[in-house]
Amino acid sequence: MMTMQQFIDQIAAEKAKQLPIVNEDRWRNKFHLMAPIGWINDPNGLCYFKGLYHVFYQYSPLDAKGGLKFWGHYTSPDMVNWTEHEVALSPDIAADVDGVYSGSALIHNDEMYLFYTGNVKHKGDYDYILTGREQNVIMVKSTDGFNFSEKKVLLTNEDYPKNMGLHVRDPKVWEEDGTFYMVLGARSVDDKGYVILYQSTNLTDWELLSVPAGGLDDMGYMWECPDTFKLEGKDVFMFSPQGMDAKGFKYHNVYQSGYAIGSFDESKQVLSLGEFDELDRGFDFYAPQTFKNHDGRIIMYGWAGVPDAVEHVNPTIEKGWQHCLTLPRELVLKGEKIYQVPVEELKAMRQTETVIENIALDEQPVFELFEDDTYELNLDFKETTAFEILFREDCNLSWKDGVFTLALGESGYGRDKRQVELSNLSNVRIYSDHSILEIYLNDGEEVFTSRIYNKELDKKLSLKGTGHVTLTKWEL
Ligand code: FRU
Repeated sequence: MMTMQQFIDQIAAEKAKQLPIVNEDRWRNKFHLMAPIGWINDPNGLCYFKGLYHVFYQYSPLDAKGGLKFWGHYTSPDMVNWTEHEVALSPDIAADVDGVYSGSALIHNDEMYLFYTGNVKHKGDYDYILTGREQNVIMVKSTDGFNFSEKKVLLTNEDYPKNMGLHVRDPKVWEEDGTFYMVLGARSVDDKGYVILYQSTNLTDWELLSVPAGGLDDMGYMWECPDTFKLEGKDVFMFSPQGMDAKGFKYHNVYQSGYAIGSFDESKQVLSLGEFDELDRGFDFYAPQTFKNHDGRIIMYGWAGVPDAVEHVNPTIEKGWQHCLTLPRELVLKGEKIYQVPVEELKAMRQTETVIENIALDEQPVFELFEDDTYELNLDFKETTAFEILFREDCNLSWKDGVFTLALGESGYGRDKRQVELSNLSNVRIYSDHSILEIYLNDGEEVFTSRIYNKELDKKLSLKGTGHVTLTKWEL
């Protein structure tokens, strides 16, 4: 087994080799968090602690196709300017030797506690679902957010309900009225997704409370990355099911991420769940996590990627890196629907502003608008009943007959079309970075996140439709 220091040295050597290649890639993003080299997946341990935002993440520095997982680490005073740090957690004990998997942070008594899954795969002829795997809940703590205590194993497969297989992971911990709670995602022996709820009074001894949700026939075989939080006094329950079938416009990615409004009963023994709704309609979104900010906002980061995607690829693998995170989004509940709004802080990224007012869409105007691929574009519609835009060579957004469509050509590298029903359209807000688009509709009612790989800059924006639009663009 390697020590933390040996891993740090190995990563430093790999960076010396890879950074010159990675950093010259035109598809490196400007304002989306990426792994410095190699692979990134889930956001982990999100929190605000002693004046800094911490974003940890699933990091495979040694393999752009994913491999042994560490926790990478970024901090920021403002969610705009980020500093990269040494890996925070490495797979250096027997209980996490095959990967420091996903987990969360809890700030308590001026200390940062991290809870994560230690992944272990025994060598041999195993299926790693019902045999040959360990998934351990492990805790570390820190007084400064950079130096962590010894790892403490809190739960092992023995502690999980007997009808669960060996996939039980991704602890999300929170405090309510002086009691701590932890949810874990799980796969049962009969291949259904579940969430398991634990309770603790001291953060080290955890007692199984219930299996609050899951076992549904049409909701997949495994639920990853569970999360729960309150919006407008309602309990929201977020998770990433694997194995759902596509239905109409829904669930076309290989795995899903979404939420349901639910509720715990008074004693927290039961969590009832409303209907599941996807959080993002694009090709690249999975394993989101939230944290409650010091000002009360619930802020979410997602992984702008999906595991095991077969129909599309990321050409950056050849340049030694893959994937990125989404921008931070504030979650706001309107009725039973979550709206996702890029956090206010991102406005600080805005540079030169261009405004074109009241454009008649039926004149099918074409503008030479873009100096670079990095911009925020806001479109505010007036009396528009149908519209279409074409930009970034072959990215087509359209809204017609109550359906919004994102369609990509060659630059999608296999990403073709994603759609959502949308009865009215008042605005579109696009964050464009070198190889990702985040498209927010109607102030965050729907979002499409997609990677996009243009070979060169396309300056043009073509518009058509009915009614008028006012366009505002900021270089970022
Ligand atoms: C979700 C996930 C988690 C796991 C982690 C491993 O993408 O599969 O369930 O902890 O990634 O990297």
